[in-house]
Amino acid sequence: MSKLLTHKIMFIGGKGGVGKSTTASAIAQLLSEGKRKVLLVSTDPAHNIGDIFHVKPKDTPLPVSPFLHLLEIDPQTESKRYIDEVKTNLKGLVKATMVEEVHRQIDLASASPGADESALFDKITTIVLEEFEAYDHIIFDTAPTGHTIRLLSLPELMNVWISGLLDKRKKVQQNYTQLLNDGEPMDDPIFDKLQARKQKFVKVRDILLDQHKTGYGFVLNAERLPILETEKAINMLDKHDIKVSTIFVNKVIPDHADGVFMENRRKNERPYLQQIHTIFQKQEIIKIPLFEHDISTAEHLLKYKETLKSTQTIFNS
Ligand SMILES: Nc1ncnc2c1ncn2[C@@H]1O[C@H](COP(=O)(O)OP(=O)(O)O)[C@@H](O)[C@H]1O
Ligand SMILES: [Mg+2]
Repeated sequence: MSKLLTHKIMFIGGKGGVGKSTTASAIAQLLSEGKRKVLLVSTDPAHNIGDIFHVKPKDTPLPVSPFLHLLEIDPQTESKRYIDEVKTNLKGLVKATMVEEVHRQIDLASASPGADESALFDKITTIVLEEFEAYDHIIFDTAPTGHTIRLLSLPELMNVWISGLLDKRKKVQQNYTQLLNDGEPMDDPIFDKLQARKQKFVKVRDILLDQHKTGYGFVLNAERLPILETEKAINMLDKHDIKVSTIFVNKVIPDHADGVFMENRRKNERPYLQQIHTIFQKQEIIKIPLFEHDISTAEHLLKYKETLKSTQTIFNS
């Protein structure tokens, strides 16, 4: 069985349609059957874990069995919630005449690229911190590659950004203190909020970068584009000190598939499989066959899960 499954927190990434949600769901089912308490979280705006389990997950954990809970995060809803929170926090801190202008600025900022991702990351941060004790495993079924990487590099960026803001704030504060308060320090609610936020991000970053606590897996198919994208993604993550441990090669054409068409598909697939072994030398590689049907019922998922359980991991190194 995959070494990815030994981690408390798991992130499953990959291109759209390769089988991220199916793999994340099968892992969640496998672990929960072993009486491990699992929270499966979908952060992909194209949610489909609900479809796999035939339920409608919400933004609070929904039990599908005593040991398995599902949660769906909607980036846009989170973004709105986040902006509303920022506005509420600023209430009483800016002059009444300035409120409208400040809100206009915040609304503009919320429409900028990356705003939804920051809000999403904020939510992931909260889940990791608040649910850490309640579950044995938290599995994130993430959005396609590019998106995930930006998300995972955010703690770094956030840290730099917040540290800069804190420094600035301190300087302003010192100037005011000199001017208004005879040198006595004043309370600064904004400074306190920034400080609290920074501490939260640092705490989560430490968990996400701890190779014993958090594992990263990518799902791909033996085709040109998913291989290219995954290679890029893994290199990018590596720069942020995030090590991807596992590659799931999904929809591999099984040996028993016969006919000229399948034989040709297999011929097409062979060099890609070789390429996967050459490129992903540092990862364990797990192959999952293409089934005769999609994975749309509990029975299918069971079959997928059994394959995952029995699959021989091929260690490159
Ligand atoms: N090994 C497999 N054999 C057959 N169909 C599969 C297999 N893995 C996934 N599928 C199907 O492929 C489609 C995409 O899978 P999904 O897990 O939703 O991808 P993603 O979450 O990466 O977008 C789904 O219809 C799923 O049922
Ligand atoms: Mg999906």
